Amino acid sequence: MAEDLTAKVPAEIPAFVTERQGDQVSRGAATIARDGLGEGEVVIKVAWSSVNYKDALATVPNGRVARVSPLVPGVDLAGEVVSSADPGVRPGTAVVAHGYDLGVAHHGGYAAYARVPAGWVVPLPPGLSPRQAMIIGTAGYTAALSVDQLERRGLEPGSGPVLVTGASGGVGSMAVGILAARGYEVVASTGKQAEHAWLRRHGAAEVIDRRELSEPSGRPLDKERWAAAVDCVGGTTLASVIAGLRQDGAVAASGLTGGAELSTTVFPFILRGVALLGVDSVQTPIERRRAIWERLATDLRPRDLDGLAAGEVGLDGLEPVLDAILAGQLKGRTLVRPG
Ligand SMILES: NC(=O)c1ccc[n+]([C@@H]2O[C@H](COP(=O)([O-])OP(=O)(O)OC[C@H]3O[C@@H](n4cnc5c(N)ncnc54)[C@H](OP(=O)(O)O)[C@@H]3O)[C@@H](O)[C@H]2O)c1
Repeated sequence: MAEDLTAKVPAEIPAFVTERQGDQVSRGAATIARDGLGEGEVVIKVAWSSVNYKDALATVPNGRVARVSPLVPGVDLAGEVVSSADPGVRPGTAVVAHGYDLGVAHHGGYAAYARVPAGWVVPLPPGLSPRQAMIIGTAGYTAALSVDQLERRGLEPGSGPVLVTGASGGVGSMAVGILAARGYEVVASTGKQAEHAWLRRHGAAEVIDRRELSEPSGRPLDKERWAAAVDCVGGTTLASVIAGLRQDGAVAASGLTGGAELSTTVFPFILRGVALLGVDSVQTPIERRRAIWERLATDLRPRDLDGLAAGEVGLDGLEPVLDAILAGQLKGRTLVRPG
């Protein structure tokens, strides 16, 4: 029998809701009913969520992210379990959840409470508070997966410079912080002239203007520059990265803020042995996800984690922040406080 949540969860829950009406999408602070939280064994009081590029896509007409309407966006959340019908997840536990259908086909983190399947829940490892877990969030988890993929292929701190594109953004700044903490020589590519010093503070040894990469040389192979790269930009930037990797280098590709098309040749692959590694944070099996979170609390913990939080916002202040991330204007990680 389902647990009676009356004493634990208010009947009307503060939330940020997006709703499609024909070609239009409305969005804003509202409430959702306790009985409308969706399916799942675990009810979480959400302490923090965060702003990711995908969250903004979930709230715009051509975003191709939201698969239900109305929807509470928020692809990640951290908080405390208030009720659980699964013996493996105890009430009172601090947890994080992200990916799978969260915030796209199942109500996400932009609400004071969330109900999720037990198989989506990651207990927070010691050393990470819910706030720190959401400074990391989907972006930091994706950066960690990227570094993990590169290291599985043999990358190590002495290998040479590692390029991070979109470096001032969420995935990018987290990658800079993780790589710097592990002793890599980090080259940060950014379009934000004003953030060069900020990137150096967070661990970049060198900062380059992103136009060096977004305007391709037209040559199939460029000078060998990087031992590896973490790319969340895609498009012509990713093509330039592939052409500039050193012999046996690799790029972990996760994003498309610079474009979804990829035009390249086979030469970097067959003449330099480079590898293009795809990174998907959404469908990682839960055991691997929990293991990566253990590492985010220890050997993949970003340098100056608290300093990578660039701002906090409530549900009623979210709209302009979602527009800003789509315009590529956000720096670091922005936290959402849904309570
Ligand atoms: N595969 C996955 O599982 C996964 C997980 C998380 C995110 N992602 C994807 O990764 C990307 C980044 O997400 P995010 O949340 O980190 O977003 P974000 O905070 O907006 O960071 C993206 C950065 O890309 C750069 N950028 C923006 N527009 C650009 C353009 N037109 N040309 C070149 N660079 C541009 C900007 O950095 P600079 O100003 O510093 O250049 C921007 O800060 C998104 O495409 C997102 O969907 C994928």
